[in-house]
Amino acid sequence: MKITILYFSKTGNTEKAATYIKDGLLTAGDFDIRLMNLNQLESVDTAFVNDSETVIMGTPTYVANMCWQFKKWFDDDWSCQLGGKLGAAFATANAMHGGGDIALQSMISHMLVRGMVTYSSGAGCGRPYIHLGPIGIGVNNGVEERKGFFELFGKRVGEQTIRLFKKL
Ligand SMILES: Cc1cc2nc3c(=O)[nH]c(=O)nc-3n(C[C@H](O)[C@H](O)[C@H](O)COP(=O)(O)O)c2cc1C
Repeated sequence: MKITILYFSKTGNTEKAATYIKDGLLTAGDFDIRLMNLNQLESVDTAFVNDSETVIMGTPTYVANMCWQFKKWFDDDWSCQLGGKLGAAFATANAMHGGGDIALQSMISHMLVRGMVTYSSGAGCGRPYIHLGPIGIGVNNGVEERKGFFELFGKRVGEQTIRLFKKL
């Protein structure tokens, strides 16, 4: 099964979170995983995204919302066929009350508009609770501190991918 981790990262925090999520996914199954940074538009492999069962999307928080680059991609680029795929979101931010949850909510709304089936693992999976998705908070070390949190999120999304898409 294929999983895309599509993110925007300019200064590296969201990219680092994406690599931790990848590590977590690999503890759940032998997935073919690709990381794609919207900062390098040519790196979006549409064919791979379209073949993916799951697309995980990550954004830095900009002005208490998803970054404009991701919003632009959602608005302008409909070449990826996301309908029916599993979607999950993650974010990074500088401040605890900097709007990371709003960024996640915004990403999830856009996924729903594309017809994706969304998943965060939810607080129902027990501690540590992951409500809308994981957020790395804090200058320089926020993502490192939450390494295990991102890995766990990856593991849970991987398990859900298997539950939904594994052929009987
Ligand atoms: C234009 C801009 C707006 C930002 N707005 C916020 C904000 O509202 N809240 C917050 O906590 N951090 C904000 N930040 C900080 C980024 O979310 C944070 O540094 C993020 O981890 C950067 O991700 P990256 O290293 O993957 O590019 C902003 C950064 C930029 C460049």
